[in-house]
Amino acid sequence: MRQAGRYLPEYREIRKLHTFLEMCHTPEVVAEVTLQPVRRFDLDAAIVFSDILVFLPALGLPVEFPEGGPKVSRPIGAPEDVERLGSLDPGRHIPEIYDAVSLCVERLDGSHPLFGFCGAPFTLACYAIEGQGSKEFARARAFLLRHERAGHQLLDKLAESAAAHLVAQVKAGATAVQVFDTWAGLLGRRDFDEFSRPYLERIVTAVKPLGVPVFVFARGVPAAWQAGLGAHVHSLDWRADLAESRRVLAPAGLQGNLDPVLLASSKLRAVATATAMCEEMRDTQAYVFNLGHGVLPETPVENVAAVIDAVHAVKLARRAA
Ligand code: CP3
Repeated sequence: MRQAGRYLPEYREIRKLHTFLEMCHTPEVVAEVTLQPVRRFDLDAAIVFSDILVFLPALGLPVEFPEGGPKVSRPIGAPEDVERLGSLDPGRHIPEIYDAVSLCVERLDGSHPLFGFCGAPFTLACYAIEGQGSKEFARARAFLLRHERAGHQLLDKLAESAAAHLVAQVKAGATAVQVFDTWAGLLGRRDFDEFSRPYLERIVTAVKPLGVPVFVFARGVPAAWQAGLGAHVHSLDWRADLAESRRVLAPAGLQGNLDPVLLASSKLRAVATATAMCEEMRDTQAYVFNLGHGVLPETPVENVAAVIDAVHAVKLARRAA
């Protein structure tokens, strides 16, 4: 999940000096911001500072990040717009993004694994069509349903570019990857199986031969629908039941899933819940404690530290037992 960001005073300091996109495209800044949470907390992994939308401009979809979230300036409005889209050539279009990954690896110097990431084709299509964030992404979903052929062509192009983007991050040194399908939970079962799942599978299949663990976060998608995707680990949002998900998704591993609102609102309750989750999963081979979505900007830094320490305390108690 997002672990760098506005809840950290040291992030807000750097953010004053640059736009968000400038930060993403400047390796020195990316490395600094990626390492901020790792320096401050006792974390087990880092995730490169970037965004799922960074490669859309290379396809012909310019993106800006004004206050209030991302905007695609010429969103897909008609089937013909899809024909015009190009595809990502990582080293030619955005070499600085992969230089940034390499610099993070260099600065981490073996202390922590580094996650690279990409957006899932369905979630990228949501922004490419809607042009901005939305509660329901009704226009984006309507486009896919109304223009089936162009819709699949769009998802296809996004999948090809997202896979190339992940592969390039791994080649630059990322030691694990996560695919974020933040909006897949808006889809009904049949539409998930048609518009999200096959494209997630395509990315997983493209990256697996590189030998790094592949994590998939399909927010709001029932675990049973995710079974058999081929991911090594499923990241669960805060609504999923861990034990039930384990039953349905084994032998794949699980990651998650503390509610970020809980983390932001009550240190005591967050510590108690995190501890209970780790206890519940104590016999699960591949369980990675994490949040069920990114850290909220209003989260007190001390709550984050307290939860991380509580998780390590369960680990240590287990080792001693
Ligand atoms: O910890 C890290 O370094 C990881 C960084 C990370 C960001 N975006 C940085 C970011 C990751 C993993 C993402 C992924 C991402 N981006 C997703 C999928 C995961 C998720 O959280 O659902 C999505 C849907 C996006 C698109 C996006 N980017 C939105 C909707 C927004 C606006 C919302 C917001 O929080 O402002 C962004 C901006 C963004 N991406 C910020 C950060 C730190 C805030 C930018 C700022 O400083 O103004």
